[in-house]
Amino acid sequence: MAIMQISHLTKQYKNSSKLAVDDISFDVKEGEVFGFLGPNGAGKSTTIKCITGILPITEGSISICGHSIVDDPIQAKLNIGFVPDNHQMYEQLTAREYINFMADIYHVGKEDRKIRADKMLELFDLAKVVDDQISTFSHGMKQKICVIGALVHNPKLWILDEPLTGLDPKSSFELKQLMKEHCKEGNSVFFSSHMLEVVEKVCDRISIINNGKLVMTGDLDEIKAKSSDSSLEEIFLSITGVKEEENDFAINDKADNEFKDVFGDEQSK
Ligand SMILES: Nc1ncnc2c1ncn2[C@@H]1O[C@H](COP(=O)(O)OP(=O)(O)OP(=O)(O)O)[C@@H](O)[C@H]1O
Ligand SMILES: [Mg+2]
Repeated sequence: MAIMQISHLTKQYKNSSKLAVDDISFDVKEGEVFGFLGPNGAGKSTTIKCITGILPITEGSISICGHSIVDDPIQAKLNIGFVPDNHQMYEQLTAREYINFMADIYHVGKEDRKIRADKMLELFDLAKVVDDQISTFSHGMKQKICVIGALVHNPKLWILDEPLTGLDPKSSFELKQLMKEHCKEGNSVFFSSHMLEVVEKVCDRISIINNGKLVMTGDLDEIKAKSSDSSLEEIFLSITGVKEEENDFAINDKADNEFKDVFGDEQSK
């Protein structure tokens, strides 16, 4: 059964003439870890922001556990746990307050939230600092609290944007284990990355996106069979080894345009 169905998704930012995501379709099935691979600027985060309802979509449809993210956003979102690439959190809260806040939003009972949070705090070595303010944490610590907040309601679909960036080897190992465990329990994980060795080790299936278009989808063997190259690295490089000049979008412009995309501006179409 498909936990997530993406059908002909297209996304054009209001201030841009090109399509950031161009007519992509794929399913994520129950029990699988699905890797979304692509170079910088390929359209991974844009796709993820459409899936999670952060950005409006231009064309196409997305459903999570049968609920459309456009027509039935609350039901769709109740089934998602999301770890964004910039781990934006309420940094004035302590880690415990943040986890409780997330648990409250998703109506998680006191007992369940304690069992889940304690296990992950232990796993990520954060039990000692749970009553400290998040603003005092390092990048990796914030990332791990974000992971705990995203999993506290045990979502059917766990979505992570570049989750391993900045994690130390132990935390990275624990996070990969957590992804696999989550899927073994009948859930699914969808994460973006350009770390090929991680994708190769952890994923049941992979999609490769380049310049907004889906180039290949399948398990590793299928992907290798479709290509004349023999390793995922060679395949990735031969698909994506061009177009560096198109990836020069300044970060501040991106944030500014994203704001306009959601809230509008007079010049936008
Ligand atoms: N807010 C925005 N306004 C206009 N264009 C944008 C905006 N955000 C992203 N883009 C453009 O959309 C395309 C896809 O960007 P996206 O952030 O989805 O890439 P990505 O695959 O997540 O890259 P990375 O690996 O660097 O995170 C790029 O061409 C980028 O310049
Ligand atoms: Mg990105």
